[in-house]
This record gives sequence, structure tokens and C-alpha cells, in this order.
Amino acid sequence: MAELEKTLALIKPDAVRAGKAQEIMQLIELNGFTIIAKQKMQLTKIRAEEFYGEHKGKEFFPKLVNFMTSGPIWALVLAKPGAILAWRALMGPTNVFKARAEQPKCLRALYGTDGTQNATHGSDSPASASREIKFFFSALSPAPVTEPAAAADY
Ligand code: TYD
Ligand code: MG
Repeated sequence: MAELEKTLALIKPDAVRAGKAQEIMQLIELNGFTIIAKQKMQLTKIRAEEFYGEHKGKEFFPKLVNFMTSGPIWALVLAKPGAILAWRALMGPTNVFKARAEQPKCLRALYGTDGTQNATHGSDSPASASREIKFFFSALSPAPVTEPAAAADY
């Protein structure tokens, strides 16, 4: 049995705008994931550029950042044995047209819009899951231990 694992999922602005966020969360739970944290938010340009830093310089980068900042998103932490691969499988192919052709019941086929606006995000490895969960839910990581300031510091 695969190890219990956490991954970072996003419900992107196209799916939130279409009113599909709750339906997608229900499907996530029906597929055996536990949603252990969730937060609705809107990314700023700087935060979106940092989140997708690995794609900086690619031709689709400005379009991607523009889309990701176009409205609210839901950030979710999902837990399940083998969550990272299982969530990628439930989302389906990155390109919505390919998703519709090859895996018509996957989330991106059902809720995505086009080649850039594809309804959901999922971490692609244990290292990115760890980075991405911290990116959105740093309150879940231990707070730094700081000494109380000495009276003389005031
Ligand atoms: P990528 O990390 O390759 O895909 P995934 O989301 O499946 O991990 O790309 C990040 C996002 O960038 C992708 O979800 C949609 C957008 N994108 C484009 O707009 N055009 C492209 O050609 C690619 C590869 C991605
Ligand atoms: Mg990716």
C-alpha cells in the first residue's frame, strides 16, 4: 500500500468563476482524498510569478500569470496514500483538449476551458508538494522559535 502523502491542489479561477469549486471538492472527497486544509484567496502577480517560477521565460508564462491572477482560487491540501500521483491522475492531462479526447471524465476535461485555463493544479513530485504546501499554508509549518526581547532592547 502506498504511503500516506500530502499534495497541494488548486481550483483555478476559471472553475471558481463557473461556480464549480464545491462540486470539485465533493469529487475530491468521493475519490478518497481528505481535504486537510482549504483557503479561498486571490494571487497577486508577484505571488503567481513565484509559484510558477519554473516556467519563467516560457512563451505561455505571461498568459498563465494573467489567468492565475484573474480571480479567486481555492488552495487545498489533500491527503491520501499516494496522493501526489493519484491527484495528477484525477486531474488528467495538462491540455484540456487532449484531456477531453483521451480521458473525458477527468477533472480538466470536465471543468477546464482551454490550453491555459485548465481548472486545477497539482504538485508533480514530493519536493514540489512540500514547497507548494508551504507556499500556501506556511502557518502549518512550525513557527520559528524566537527569544522574547530582553527589557534592555526596548
Ligand atoms: P505545467 O507545469 O507544464 O502543467 P501542469 O499544470 O499539468 O503541472 O504547466 C503549468 C500550467 O501552465 C498549466 O497548468 C497550464 C499552463 N500551460 C500553458 O498555458 N501552455 C503550455 O503549453 C503549458 C505546457 C502549460
Ligand atoms: Mg506543473
